[in-house]
Amino acid sequence: MSNIEKAVSQSLAEFRARIENRTAKVGIVGLGYVGLPLMLLFSEQKFQITGFDIDPEKVRILSSGGSYIYRIPATEISAARAAGFSATSDYSLVSAMDAVIICVPTPLNEYREPDLSYIRATAAAIAPWLHANQLIVLESTTYPGTTEEVLAPILEAGNRSGLKAAHEGKVLNCNTFMVAFSPEREDPGNDTVARRDIPKVVGGLNHDAAEIAGALYNTIFNRVVPVSSPAVAEMTKLLENIYRCVNIAMVNELKLLCLRMGIDIWEVIRAASTKPFGFHPFYPGPGLGGHCIPVDPFYLSWKAKEWDFQTRFIELAGEVNTAMPYHVVTSVASALNRHKKALNGSKVLVLGVAYKRDIDDLRESPALTIIEELQRQGAEVSYNDPYFPTVGRGRKYNLQMKCTPLENLGRFDCVLIVTDHSDYDYKRIVSESQLVVDSRNATRGIVSEKIVAC
Ligand SMILES: NC(=O)c1ccc[n+]([C@@H]2O[C@H](COP(=O)([O-])OP(=O)(O)OC[C@H]3O[C@@H](n4cnc5c(N)ncnc54)[C@H](O)[C@@H]3O)[C@@H](O)[C@H]2O)c1
Repeated sequence: MSNIEKAVSQSLAEFRARIENRTAKVGIVGLGYVGLPLMLLFSEQKFQITGFDIDPEKVRILSSGGSYIYRIPATEISAARAAGFSATSDYSLVSAMDAVIICVPTPLNEYREPDLSYIRATAAAIAPWLHANQLIVLESTTYPGTTEEVLAPILEAGNRSGLKAAHEGKVLNCNTFMVAFSPEREDPGNDTVARRDIPKVVGGLNHDAAEIAGALYNTIFNRVVPVSSPAVAEMTKLLENIYRCVNIAMVNELKLLCLRMGIDIWEVIRAASTKPFGFHPFYPGPGLGGHCIPVDPFYLSWKAKEWDFQTRFIELAGEVNTAMPYHVVTSVASALNRHKKALNGSKVLVLGVAYKRDIDDLRESPALTIIEELQRQGAEVSYNDPYFPTVGRGRKYNLQMKCTPLENLGRFDCVLIVTDHSDYDYKRIVSESQLVVDSRNATRGIVSEKIVAC
């Protein structure tokens, strides 16, 4: 073994020991729905975490022991602070970190192309503060190749000491840092699987990066699944989300057919789910929502074009799923028509604006498109959602609405169930309303002529 190899191997052994005895310093960049719960997991395992975020309001709230995510109580932030967690916007502190995990947004731009600006900005901000043998892990969902082709080169170009990302097969030296990709697999609102029971896939640019990242994640997850490269890990996450996106589109399309044929798709899915093999149920709805399923597949479609390849399943699924909110609006119009009313001028109450049940996340929610489309067609729209006292301005909408109390439901011409929060008393809602259009099968088991499935 050369002296350089000895030095590198000793430094990695020290890194492993710091992970083992919890003295490794871990930085998490982007303290949102992914980064903040991740911080809590590390903090519970006695790591001292530094959280980085460019949003001064988030840093202020966390620094005063508060929380801005509904399902994370302030007491958990306070406990983390007592265990050494601090939040900052000062990137110079990156130089004190052993590992930095990046959890920043990866949306689509207005042309439905990947917007990597957050990853690029984060990499540029971290780069000047890198040190040798530091581990940088990207968790943001993205197309295969991002870690190697986008993240690593920005880190290399921007650091002061000419450090290079360690690649497999390249000669080891003391002027390298380690880079890995590990996708986030959280399912917000799903309490059936504990976070630490969700296996963690890790792919490193070289063996050391994979091994050290694996050792770090091993402290907070019960199982780490090593894969051969960041690209495999990036593609794994996309496969999981494309699988959901395509199957939801298929069941959405079948729902439209079943509605026409007078067959209850929910009953069909229930029956099919009794098959003990080869069938996994997916459920229809008013359209896709959230930061992942409506967005991630198009990262791959975009990248595929570089290889002269059309991802037809993704495009078709996108087409079917994007049409669903418009189907809901058409269903409201025809339900009102049966009551001899026009959509134009009718009072419609939208129940639930979050993109799915029991969560406080509005991103890409089909409710936003539905409300805008109902308004465009002249309806007087109100909404109720226990998780959102107001709906203001987002990237693609500007609704400026206030939550309407669930009282006096008879004054609405139609109550439209978009998100089936479990707090709602659906029996009462049906009994007090004139007409209920249900896009989620939330009124199952209630027999009433007022209910229209859509
Ligand atoms: N939310 C989920 O359920 C989920 C699940 C799996 C994967 N993901 C992926 O994880 C990534 C993060 O998603 P999220 O839901 O946590 O997003 P989020 O918007 O909730 O949080 C991102 C945070 O990053 C901060 N930020 C943006 N630019 C920054 C910068 N340059 N430096 C520091 N902080 C910066 C923002 O202020 C925000 O607090 C995305 O790629 C997403 O696709 C999300």
